[in-house]
Amino acid sequence: MKLVAIVGTNADFSYNRKLLEYMKWHFRRAAEIEVLEVKQLPPFNEDLPYSEQTEVWRFNNKINNADGVIIATPEYDHSIPAALKSGLEWLSYKHKTMKEKPVMIVGVSYGTQGTSRAQQQLRQMLLSPDLNSNVLPGNEVLIGNAAKTFDKNGFVTDIKVVHNLEDSFAAFNRFVKSNMRYLEEGDDNMTEPHISSEAKVQFRTGSLKVKEIQQIFNTLPFEIDFIDDTDHFAYYSDKPNREHVRHPSEIGESVEECHPPKALPAVKAIMDSFKLGTKDHVERCLPLNGHKVWINYYAVRDENGRYLGTMEFTGNVGHLVNLVKDGKFDGFPDATSGASKHDDDSEATGPVASESADATTGASEHDEENEDKTE
Ligand SMILES: Cc1cc2nc3c(=O)[nH]c(=O)nc-3n(C[C@H](O)[C@H](O)[C@H](O)COP(=O)(O)O)c2cc1C
Repeated sequence: MKLVAIVGTNADFSYNRKLLEYMKWHFRRAAEIEVLEVKQLPPFNEDLPYSEQTEVWRFNNKINNADGVIIATPEYDHSIPAALKSGLEWLSYKHKTMKEKPVMIVGVSYGTQGTSRAQQQLRQMLLSPDLNSNVLPGNEVLIGNAAKTFDKNGFVTDIKVVHNLEDSFAAFNRFVKSNMRYLEEGDDNMTEPHISSEAKVQFRTGSLKVKEIQQIFNTLPFEIDFIDDTDHFAYYSDKPNREHVRHPSEIGESVEECHPPKALPAVKAIMDSFKLGTKDHVERCLPLNGHKVWINYYAVRDENGRYLGTMEFTGNVGHLVNLVKDGKFDGFPDATSGASKHDDDSEATGPVASESADATTGASEHDEENEDKTE
């Protein structure tokens, strides 16, 4: 389970940040928790062009890719701090990133009331139409007397607080998992005819069961993303260890929503060229996640040439580069095998050739810009 935890203050020293760091450590076996800072975001202003707000996009993206969100709010003047309110405004604006996200609220204050008034207001905000989150019901983590709650190493010293935190987190864990099941199964069964995974799809060159199609895509050594002809993210293959980590909640996003603002012009230019028919394929090579990654964009067309969408085909080709460099295949000297001739022949169109060729293509201009997308 992947969670993000938002520190609801822009102060450098914060007990609420300490609490989230503690939760990250204490619940490390149950969930991977990434702590995010609202202080990374500019103050919300509708007039700031969203297209220039890469930090906001990153924040949104991390939340999109998470199964749930924890928010730790201080209490300022019986309400939440302005920095957290501003952050929530960025999250509700345009993309409605918090929509149906499971949210757990926690809070630490100096006084005895443990942010109860701020939390009540936060709950109310999260239910507003543009935030529209699924807030964990029936559990409250209200921690007062902040200065006495943590020791110098950041451990919570009050066993009652620890037990309340554990009970509430266990409830949140179940809440998130039921939401994940809902996302996996969807509610499509209610409105669309259900196609069995055993159903066969007939192609001109053979037939495959639906479950076979799915698993073939998942087994390919390259990952696939598909943007349909309405410019919406329609599908990704569920390959293990993807270079571009995706989450089911991203399905249905517009091309603007699923790319960082800086990368958008390049992506749109590629898609426009596919729609116009001036290009069918663009490739790039770039270092990503410590790998040598080969990315291909293909125009997918029907038999009459009509544009159906754009497929992104991505893979780590580091081992192929090494194989070609070493002249070895599975540890056997390539020179003695019949495969060597074929390998030599294919060199001109292989990933290594692409890597060097890409340095001279227009696609490479966008590499640095597009790198954001993958962070
Ligand atoms: C502007 C301001 C207003 C505050 N108002 C309240 C309040 O209404 N209720 C409360 O319990 N604590 C209030 N406090 C004290 C906070 O509980 C305390 O500063 C706490 O440490 C803030 O959380 P943090 O350490 O995560 O920043 C206020 C603090 C500030 C700076």
